[in-house]
Amino acid sequence: MRDSSNNPETFSRDTEYLYKGDRIEGMSLKPEVIPCFLTTAFNMDNLDDVNRVYAEHGYTYIRTRNPNRDALAEVVSFLEGGAKSDIFSSGMGAITSTLTTLLRPGDQIICNRYIYGETFNVIDEVIRERMGIEVASVSFEDLDEVRQAVTEKTRMIYTEVVSNPTMRIADIRTLADIAHSAGALLVVDNTFTTPFAIKPLDLGADVVINSLTKFLNGHSDAVGGSITARDAELVDKIHHISMLLGTPGDPFSSWLILRGLHTAALRLPRQIETAAKLARALEKEPCISGVNHTSLESHPQRELSQSLVPGGLGCPMLSIYLPEDDMEKISQFMDRLHFARYAPTLGGIRTSMSHPVTSSHPNVPDDIRRAMGITPGMIRISVGTEDADDLIRDFHQALQVF
Ligand SMILES: Cc1ncc(COP(=O)(O)O)c(C=O)c1O
Repeated sequence: MRDSSNNPETFSRDTEYLYKGDRIEGMSLKPEVIPCFLTTAFNMDNLDDVNRVYAEHGYTYIRTRNPNRDALAEVVSFLEGGAKSDIFSSGMGAITSTLTTLLRPGDQIICNRYIYGETFNVIDEVIRERMGIEVASVSFEDLDEVRQAVTEKTRMIYTEVVSNPTMRIADIRTLADIAHSAGALLVVDNTFTTPFAIKPLDLGADVVINSLTKFLNGHSDAVGGSITARDAELVDKIHHISMLLGTPGDPFSSWLILRGLHTAALRLPRQIETAAKLARALEKEPCISGVNHTSLESHPQRELSQSLVPGGLGCPMLSIYLPEDDMEKISQFMDRLHFARYAPTLGGIRTSMSHPVTSSHPNVPDDIRRAMGITPGMIRISVGTEDADDLIRDFHQALQVF
């Protein structure tokens, strides 16, 4: 952004973020949009130049640092309210790089039992099994369970803001207190909620992670991830390991994601509001036995939702319970929908849905799944930018199969 030191005014976030990350270090041209730097390296003139560029941490090899990643990182930092961000090849790249940098053999991590399946798998199969780190996997709905899991080895508490697919909310503020009194870090995945709904760093989290593949890009055409922290050194440490692991983001994905992110301030408030409207309408459908959405009066953590975010925590994700006695009818319901299609992802501008029993939780025994609130009749919905009334009417007509 241009120097605004002569201008004492502050502007709204939705205006300011459009002008972040819009200048490339060392480039005199002023393109209206940052070009995509599809190059693997940057030339240097002679050994003096080589020494200078390395000393100044300039652009050398694309995996080490690249302008498109820096531009995107600056915007993500601004949105999340952190000092520094780093951009990764995927949300999983951000997660694995963070965990492997910040944990060492002999440490312990306390993680929410209800997190994205592959995050859970990486914590179990890599962090616990291969790195020898103790893992306490507990339900974060009961904070006493979290407190009881703390040991002198605890180095990290890990959670998502809302759990998938039941939309239970993690009490970030209290979790930060528990982590900090144990000398540990609180790492929070904000993928479902995004910084347009909540800023975990402001509530005490130390590191916030986003899968940029989802709502922040919003166009279902690029894979990426980010981490943001208040402590820039922490980001530098994770970047160093990420570079060695080969998880940094590539220029083209970073460029695409920044393009998508520039309209997120228009998309996300609407998606969040539409999700709330759809959730309220679906609660009235006689064949639906329950709706999980953070905005509903019926949400069991209503007070927490209000205390984390004035007016309640928004989220473009919801889930519903359909009758499970005839699975064929669930298929017919999906066929009858004009708009929402099945997609093993979320966060696009078109509403999509998934079936947790067959997608995210197929290997979990039925009784355990049910205890987690996941039944064969559950459908998870990621709400897009369609007109809310169109979506409500479409779901209503498709539900007539029951
Ligand atoms: C909450 C959450 N975190 C992280 C990820 C991983 O992101 P990616 O697919 O970009 O690696 C996902 C993927 O669905 C997710 O839902």
